[in-house]
Amino acid sequence: METPSRKLRWGILSTANIGRAAVIPAIHASTTGEVVAVASRDSERAREFAEANAIPEHFGSYQGLLDSDTIDAVYIPLPNSLHKEWAIRSAAAGKHVLCEKPLGLTAAECEAMDAAARDAGVTLMEAFMYRFHPRTERVIELLRAGAIGSLRSIQASFSFRLTQPDNIRLSRELGGGSLMDVGCYCVNVSRTLAGAEPMQVQAFASWAESGVDEQMAGTLKFADGLTAQLDCALTLERRERYVAAGTEGYLDVEAAFLPGTDDAEIAEHRGRGSMTTHTIAGADEYQLMVEHFADCVSNGAALRYPASEAAANMRVIEALYRSAREGGIPVDVPST
Ligand SMILES: NC(=O)c1ccc[n+]([C@@H]2O[C@H](COP(=O)([O-])OP(=O)(O)OC[C@H]3O[C@@H](n4cnc5c(N)ncnc54)[C@H](OP(=O)(O)O)[C@@H]3O)[C@@H](O)[C@H]2O)c1
Repeated sequence: METPSRKLRWGILSTANIGRAAVIPAIHASTTGEVVAVASRDSERAREFAEANAIPEHFGSYQGLLDSDTIDAVYIPLPNSLHKEWAIRSAAAGKHVLCEKPLGLTAAECEAMDAAARDAGVTLMEAFMYRFHPRTERVIELLRAGAIGSLRSIQASFSFRLTQPDNIRLSRELGGGSLMDVGCYCVNVSRTLAGAEPMQVQAFASWAESGVDEQMAGTLKFADGLTAQLDCALTLERRERYVAAGTEGYLDVEAAFLPGTDDAEIAEHRGRGSMTTHTIAGADEYQLMVEHFADCVSNGAALRYPASEAAANMRVIEALYRSAREGGIPVDVPST
């Protein structure tokens, strides 16, 4: 990767936890970008957040930040229902956009965001950071090299126990739910490992009082008999794991989406009791993500994951919701 002549100047839309905990530190740590401003709905919150996170400028409205001509790109960690509006407004203001997952509430929203970014000539990417971890790349290499024979079955789980009733994940209006929040990783990793789109899905869910799915189990059916099973929840002890099983072995990946920065492992099983551990040197997947984004904006590198990829993920998620709402009926996934 070439070092761009000038660092990408980032603005952050909101004082969200994920920005504070992971993405702002990742931009600070990168050699390709700097955080120059933050915006909040509340100007005092913006000021305090800026001070606590070494951000030089702050704005009391998101549009105020977008109107600034000292910002090249924005990071959007808003509640899911606000992603579309603010990504489109950001593009209209000429800002490149890194937007949190899920990119939109539906495939149609993702497509509208993509169209707005293209019209404005800016880069748009969904912030699924786990894909940038070298371990994910190694898993894909192992699968494509036939390490476990023919891939036939994937199981992906992501759950944690949410205890704050006012959390955005429990609000239907804000686009909450276990599938939107963590199940989207299971869908994404299944499609990524399969290297294909599922044709049909089926799902069962349990619903919180607010109307969001607090737990879901689903199956994705791909061509040639490959299936992926996902299990996600906002009500269960923390688990994040996927297993990719083939005719000659299986790969087992723990701490699958948030491995932290320590070394990460892939357990490759073959036969009875034969296990090889692949150890991947620790990396900050958020930093790798923001550096890739900066490389695309500043050096014209090709986006590894364009917005059309996010739309494809949402087509599967929409089908899973339809199935779950209709008692688990099989639902076809439209191809576009
Ligand atoms: N990639 C990852 O690892 C990861 C991890 C966690 C979350 N996420 C994603 O990041 C996004 C934010 O998640 P989070 O947990 O960080 O959220 P959060 O802490 O609840 O922050 C959301 C922010 O949005 C702003 N906001 C605007 N309108 C709001 C409204 N009506 N209600 C609540 N907040 C509102 C608030 O900032 P102001 O008041 O300052 O304007 C708030 O701080 C979601 O899309 C989530 O899926 C990604």
